Amino acid sequence: MSENSYCVEGVSLTRPFQIRRLGHFGINVASVDVALDFYSRLLGFEISDELDFGPRVPEAVKAQVGPTRGVFTRHGTDHHSFVLFPKRAVEASNPHYGPYPELTVNQITWQVSSLREVVDGFKWFSEQGLKILRSGRDTPGSNWHIYPADPDGHVNELYYGIEQIGWAGMSKPLAMHGIRYMQPPELPHRSEFSEVNAALEQGLALDGGYRRKMPLPETFDVGGVLLARPFKITKIGPVRIFVKDVNEALDFYQKTLGLSLTEEIIYEGHRCVFLRANTEHHSLAVYPIALRNVLGLTDNSSLFGFGVQLGSYAQLRDAIAFLTQAGLQFKELPQALFPGMGHHVWLSDPDGNLVQLYWEMEQIGWDGKPRPANLRRSWNADPTRWQAEISPQSDSYSGEVFLGPLN
Ligand SMILES: [Fe+2]
Repeated sequence: MSENSYCVEGVSLTRPFQIRRLGHFGINVASVDVALDFYSRLLGFEISDELDFGPRVPEAVKAQVGPTRGVFTRHGTDHHSFVLFPKRAVEASNPHYGPYPELTVNQITWQVSSLREVVDGFKWFSEQGLKILRSGRDTPGSNWHIYPADPDGHVNELYYGIEQIGWAGMSKPLAMHGIRYMQPPELPHRSEFSEVNAALEQGLALDGGYRRKMPLPETFDVGGVLLARPFKITKIGPVRIFVKDVNEALDFYQKTLGLSLTEEIIYEGHRCVFLRANTEHHSLAVYPIALRNVLGLTDNSSLFGFGVQLGSYAQLRDAIAFLTQAGLQFKELPQALFPGMGHHVWLSDPDGNLVQLYWEMEQIGWDGKPRPANLRRSWNADPTRWQAEISPQSDSYSGEVFLGPLN
């Protein structure tokens, strides 16, 4: 066994943690309220908690940063899968953004499977001389975490144990938010169930947390359930970023974080790499920054795009009709830049961030090989020419499964 081998729950790995999936993602936006109209009213991310950045903003600039409310949103039972923070307030309160004027991503967040992996990961990053921006356990969300940044400043997060929101639809009450840590804990730590029991013994009511409002009528039949939109987000990602040096970024994401390289392409001379955390073809795609101008994209953000998976092909078609009726327009980008993906469309959010709606992602098996290009599904870029019914691929419904009811 090599010196660099770490025994993680009985298996020797090259680092003391193993990323399992993209857990959540976040961006800083000009107006959280305006972004919410797009991401919540139209796409269906539901608010699970709010966070006021006001107390973090220095007094001298408080009058200039505008509204300071940030929101945590979710599509399933994870407390948050997508967060929207107020750009000016975040930049005024967090010095990390200073050297990275194009940084609009506030986190690319990966789940590991144990608290020990977070704690040992913290030590490992320190031993390697790699910077951890923050560690401990924050609320809202209650997840234990460490925050390393990639060479272009994108803040990554590794976490264990995010709060789950169950049948009652309520987040933890504010009184539970007192349980915070500014550093990794001593192990073993008490369970969350034990924490809740202790709160009950102190007479704390558990039902005082944030619960989403339901202002929209539920009129669309989605698989037999009435929802406010004719589709349901069932998974987040992939995240696509632009970087100054693809090799350096690959070093970080592949060698440091341990993501697997699925595929590389050369697009008009530009090398683009696709990495996965689990069986999905990619949950992170890295593109050279020079490609941004080639594609005619705005030059003020290192975020290329953010994907959201919908429950089915039929839902994707219905989503396109629904969003078209809402006045949104779709943008076409070269399919070659998104290997492993079936039918999809691109939207711009109010800040100009690109959002990719899709239903099908190629899955990678034991041998780590992507599907040969000639066996991939071919599809028309124009959704008005999509057929009502198509044949499945061998892996159309494989991969991460949405748990629980659709609402
Ligand atoms: Fe996070």
